[in-house]
Amino acid sequence: MDRFEVPARVSDGSSSPVPTMAAYRKAFMDATNDPDAFWLKVATERLAWRTPPTIGLEGSYHTIAESPLRWFGDGRLNITESCIDRHADAQPDKVALLWEGDDPADVRKITYGELKREVSKAANALRELGLKKGERVIIYMGMVPEAAFAMLACARLGAIHSVVFGGFSAEAVRDRVRDCGAEIVITQDFGLRGSRTIALKDVVDRALEGEHGVNKVLVFQRTGGDVGWSPDRDVWWHEAVAAASDDCPAVECSAEDPLFILYTSGSTGKPKGVVHTCGGYLAYTSYTHEVVFDLRPDDVYACVADVGWITGHSYIVYGPLANGCTSLMFESVPTYPDAGRYWDMVDRHGITIFYTAPTAIRALAAQGDSFVTRSSRRSLRVLGTVGEPINPDAWRWYYDVVGNGQCNIVDTWWQTETGGMAIAPIAPATATKPGSATLPLPGIVPVLMDDKDRIIRGPGEGRLCLAQPWPGQARTVWNDHARFVATYFTHYVGYYFTGDGCRRDNDGYHWITGRVDDVINVSGHRMGTAEFESVLVSAEAVAEAGVVGFPHPIKGQGVYAYIVLQPGQAASTELETALQKILRAQIGAHAKVDLFQFVPGLPKTRSGKVMRRILRKVAEGEPEKLGDISTLADPGVVEAIKAGAKRLA
Ligand code: WTA
Repeated sequence: MDRFEVPARVSDGSSSPVPTMAAYRKAFMDATNDPDAFWLKVATERLAWRTPPTIGLEGSYHTIAESPLRWFGDGRLNITESCIDRHADAQPDKVALLWEGDDPADVRKITYGELKREVSKAANALRELGLKKGERVIIYMGMVPEAAFAMLACARLGAIHSVVFGGFSAEAVRDRVRDCGAEIVITQDFGLRGSRTIALKDVVDRALEGEHGVNKVLVFQRTGGDVGWSPDRDVWWHEAVAAASDDCPAVECSAEDPLFILYTSGSTGKPKGVVHTCGGYLAYTSYTHEVVFDLRPDDVYACVADVGWITGHSYIVYGPLANGCTSLMFESVPTYPDAGRYWDMVDRHGITIFYTAPTAIRALAAQGDSFVTRSSRRSLRVLGTVGEPINPDAWRWYYDVVGNGQCNIVDTWWQTETGGMAIAPIAPATATKPGSATLPLPGIVPVLMDDKDRIIRGPGEGRLCLAQPWPGQARTVWNDHARFVATYFTHYVGYYFTGDGCRRDNDGYHWITGRVDDVINVSGHRMGTAEFESVLVSAEAVAEAGVVGFPHPIKGQGVYAYIVLQPGQAASTELETALQKILRAQIGAHAKVDLFQFVPGLPKTRSGKVMRRILRKVAEGEPEKLGDISTLADPGVVEAIKAGAKRLA
């Protein structure tokens, strides 16, 4: 098995708290043996507190049903003072947000001094619109600096933001507005991506039709195109924010006050609003951002995720700004104007740390090396990946071609629920293996369970649980703590269950094998098969639907839909197009079926339960591996399914 030692140019000169393997082992032991002392030290040293905490963890996985975990419960702060004010005082002219727009020539540099003024103005404008501590705000924007200003402005007031990815449909926005009880929505007229415009304001207008809970919609003007306008409700950002004072005292919060809600898909039902709180989340994202990437004072750090996902929250906005670094925000797509965009951007800005997703790496590798090799990429030191398992081929291409064999690759495993990276190499310290997320970060105690729910010691493969709480983890599901407990803490009592499978090798390295529940990960977008199914059966022609993932060369996983039609309905490409349209309208542009198979019935047990294993095996192209099908009510269905199996062209 290939093993890559850390290049000297990466390990030399680290100023991080964990620069070596020896330091890692010590930090890991300290965090495991005395988590309270370890994390209290991290939190008090790293953040600007009004009242520093003296209490570490309160609660445990055994008592989580009665009361959510708390970290730093007696600490008081406003997280924007850690992310903005102290840097605005110490280094006002350092660039905080380095923005590259859709047009590569469109660059904005927002210093910490400017960030403080912009966020303060936005916060004052929101306060004028009536926003108070604890109230919810939906943010539905593209990748513009104002999206970060909006998040931070909410935090400045102690309000709770929920960013909704700009690809979601009006239906999806409405569901989230209702679920969190938002009173304000912040959006922009249009989004710009790869010369395409996205009518964000129009989606919000449709989402809010007939909704009475939302009083105000604050609209940032990006393109100046025509938008619908409700004079009593809609307010232009450039009018309200420009008129506001740039002095806005931060509202003091408890460490355990919610900072944001982020909706994410699970194996059942509607997406759930994962809640992260102020103190623990910021301490954890700040710590992991510095330690994993080995952040240095002069780094130009670029994470090209979207703020609509947890990666954008933790590693474009909160972790990097807490660390006072220069964080890039990228509005466009990796293939615009051509497939060299990322690497040209690296040279343009002298990017030293670059963080992206395997799906982008695979898509770009497929375009050939010349788009990469035309740039020098000399500034790069650390390359990160996140969101899905990275296949060793893509890993090697990233290492050899993008990194020129001169960078360390950090394959970071984590989830919306973990708040920050959990299993990942530490750039200056950890030798890597292509496809492995390597070792747990300090404070993370992975446990593998076998199919009899027994703990696997040493090498083996099983379901990944985490045994010990850490400050960055989600505290609850908004308005539904019972669902939070049922989803994560009842499969294995006393453990957090991740939903992922994992193999541990002889060196103790971790290899994530993908989801073991009914969640699929398409191009790093996490979606529930149940969400697809409920939308598909809402179509008149469809009687039943079974949706599973299958291996896809670029997207990681593709979506395979088995459709049982109503009597009298016939399969056709028009029907497929119609179903895609419904998915787009109900969920969003990223919810697309790759392969439809029309079947006479779904394989069910005699008690009527769909045998999803069969659907998965056929979709994965392994119909010979169906296993025991003796409990099937109608074995004939399986034959039809096998005979009609679809493959990508
Ligand atoms: C998957 C994204 C393998 C995993 C931060 C997890 C990964 C889900 C990796 C969470 C990785 C994320 N290797 N799989 N490095 N990173 N995943 O909530 O299945 O959007 O459970 O958070 O992505 O997706 P989410």
